[in-house]
Amino acid sequence: MRKNNGFISIEDLKNYDSVYREPIIGTYKGYKIISMGPPSSGGVLIVQMLNMLENFDVESMKRNSTEFVHLLTEIQRLAYADRATHLGDPDFWENPIAMLTSKEYATERLGLISMKNATPSIEIAHGTWNNKESMETTHYSVMDKAGNVAGITTTINLSYGNKKIVDGAGFFLNNEMDDFSSKPGVPNSFGLVGNEANSIEPGKRPLSSMTPTIVLKNKKPFLILGSPGGSRIITSVLQALLNITIHNMSLKEAVSLPRVHSQWLPDAVYFEENSLNDDVKELLIDNGHTILPFSYIGNVNAILINENGYTGYGDPRGENTAKGY
Ligand code: DON
Repeated sequence: MRKNNGFISIEDLKNYDSVYREPIIGTYKGYKIISMGPPSSGGVLIVQMLNMLENFDVESMKRNSTEFVHLLTEIQRLAYADRATHLGDPDFWENPIAMLTSKEYATERLGLISMKNATPSIEIAHGTWNNKESMETTHYSVMDKAGNVAGITTTINLSYGNKKIVDGAGFFLNNEMDDFSSKPGVPNSFGLVGNEANSIEPGKRPLSSMTPTIVLKNKKPFLILGSPGGSRIITSVLQALLNITIHNMSLKEAVSLPRVHSQWLPDAVYFEENSLNDDVKELLIDNGHTILPFSYIGNVNAILINENGYTGYGDPRGENTAKGY
């Protein structure tokens, strides 16, 4: 080092330690893949690219055919664009491993490429990682090995509650006063109006919309679900529940398919993107409804217990996940 004017000193070498890192674990068509995590990008990218490939009938493609090389190039482009922005030494940088290695993210990224033409790399950016804590209420559904179930919704109402933190205690005070009807006909932050029944009085609790719900079938737990979303909690839970009980959907579809919402006042039907087709929108307007787009309605986290066993599903609208231990 000294002879070649290098920068590394004997202290640098003494200060260097090897560190144990968690491996990256994924699956590909029934195989389990175990590989190296950051500070290598290898494991993350291998799992990410295999997740993308799982969406294609790769078996039917001839190795190194045009189709195969095109596909590899396109998915590698997507993965390396993420590598450039999202990955680095985890002692210095928060690596969004869960996002990059999830099957949902892989499928979503594939929307950017086509199987016909090369996508210019300049048009491909890294995916966005929403690492901000949600401003929302939280709902979780749980079941233990004995089959006991619970649905829990908890909230301090709006983002950071009343924005006052309790010194030294580490938590915010809520602003649940907004759930009261402050004056007849005056909407709260969710546009809900109320009257005497929900007026502010000493010792009175405000009217919530939280809907932690357990559905029994033949006296046994069948569906456990709930959601954040203020006034939209109730309608989100209703639609997910109907999707299972009436429309016979899988839990994934029941939770993730686009929803609609209305709440008497404001007098409107709110709809998520792709929830209603153009014919339906036109007919609703013809029928006298006011329809308005809405970014997202609810965030349902649910467990379904049926003849196929247990399924858990976290709403892709937010930072939700399902876990089994
Ligand atoms: O109890 C209620 O109905 C409200 N405090 C819930 C607020 C809420 O869900 C905020 N998050 N989106």
